[in-house]
Amino acid sequence: MLSVFLFGLFLQLITEWFHEFDDAQRNLLLKQILPQFNVPQIHLVSTEMEHHLHAGCPPNCLDSLGWLPCTITSYLLTFLDPVSLGRAAMTCRRWNELASDSSLWKRFCNQPKWRLSRVSEHKQLLSHVQSNGDIDWKSVFAERFKLCNNWLNGKCNVRTFEGHTQGISCLQFDDTRIVSGSSDKTIKVWNIRTNSPWGVQTLAGHSGTVRCLHLDGNRLVSGSTDRSIKVWDLSTQQSWSSIACKVTMVGHLDTVRCLQVDDQKVVSGSYDRCLKVWDIHTGHCTRSLRGHEAAVLCVQFDQDKIVSGSCDKTIKVWSFSGECLMTLKGHHDAVTCLQFDKTRIVSGSLDCNLKFWHIDTGECMNTIDWKASEGHTGVVRCLQADSWRVVSASDDRTIKVWSLETGQRLVTLRNHTDGVTCLQFNDSIIVSGSYDKTVKLWDFGCC
Ligand SMILES: *[C@@H]1O[C@H](CO)[C@@H](O)[C@H](O)[C@H]1NC(C)=O
Ligand SMILES: *[C@@H]1O[C@H](CO)[C@@H](O)[C@H](O)[C@H]1NC(C)=O
Repeated sequence: MLSVFLFGLFLQLITEWFHEFDDAQRNLLLKQILPQFNVPQIHLVSTEMEHHLHAGCPPNCLDSLGWLPCTITSYLLTFLDPVSLGRAAMTCRRWNELASDSSLWKRFCNQPKWRLSRVSEHKQLLSHVQSNGDIDWKSVFAERFKLCNNWLNGKCNVRTFEGHTQGISCLQFDDTRIVSGSSDKTIKVWNIRTNSPWGVQTLAGHSGTVRCLHLDGNRLVSGSTDRSIKVWDLSTQQSWSSIACKVTMVGHLDTVRCLQVDDQKVVSGSYDRCLKVWDIHTGHCTRSLRGHEAAVLCVQFDQDKIVSGSCDKTIKVWSFSGECLMTLKGHHDAVTCLQFDKTRIVSGSLDCNLKFWHIDTGECMNTIDWKASEGHTGVVRCLQADSWRVVSASDDRTIKVWSLETGQRLVTLRNHTDGVTCLQFNDSIIVSGSYDKTVKLWDFGCC
């Protein structure tokens, strides 16, 4: 009761005294109160101003951002989406200054929607450091915005790498090169920057289709239908070489279909239903993991576990001691690809579903039937996912980009003249290989 009474009294006093204040005092009063305002009051002020500020006011009086204190304008601008903020920056010099405030753009850059992968962000930020050492977040954001639009609109430059005499079955790329494995039994190492036919290195040694690859600096590990795994040293300069092969691992009884590598070991999966762990230096098999009832098609490992997918429609999680910790059932056909991080496993299957599994419990958390929304008309050969998109490739000659969240198809890319068998992407490019004997690089960052 008392506070209501006091508030009434306060209002009455302010209204009466206000007449006796000069402009400077009134402004001072406003400046004192404004920072206490919340969104509803700011909204009220902005609508009231439209009625009061027409007659006899100084130039720019409608520029609400101009006369409000900086702390308030900065706060107001945080309510704008990137496109509106960009427009505001183009209004006049004062607004441009306000709307170019790096912290506003940093906020956008840190929203999940506008994040890049950790590696890409690191690279991008390094290239936007100003002379004073600060990061120019506005241009960082502009670049991400353009990149995202190019992805959503399928806007890209396509470069074609020709040289294999048979279809491509696997590939990987890093900062400087693309490596591709083919049914012509060779591996080619392409210079990603020049795409010069003279810079291509050809690795010969396998006696069957090169079925899987892992590139790690100068070390390349390959698996083949000839049942062997080979470790190559790419610092060898010869353009046609088998000398580059340092170690050959024999032990699998059928095609080596998938593998992953770190400094110590190779983990491989084979049509012989078995996974093997190898010492990368000696080439000795240190462990065999048995349990899948059909060919092993995909594998990934980290420090403490191995995850594999198989034609037996299951995913298995293994310890390095060789124990099968979990078997995940749910797919209705072969599990062709998978990826896992700290929290979940994403898997793709010939049943055209993507499934998301809880990595600790093995529970299926979500299923996306991504064929339902204008899916592929042929068998899906491969796919890769990141935080917001899935890229898949198919016998129908296309590459498709999907929203990870909704399962909606975002874009279809056409340029290969035969089925697409393998791909890898990062935030700015896709590299794909096809039965049409070519490798293509789809660059979304350049236009
Ligand atoms: C993607 O990979 C290409 C080739 O290595 C590289 O030039 C580019 O910087 C990478 N993009 C990002 C956003 O990391
Ligand atoms: C593939 O892309 C290149 C370069 O943009 C273009 O010249 C060519 O016609 C395309 N080929 C097909 C089959 O779409």
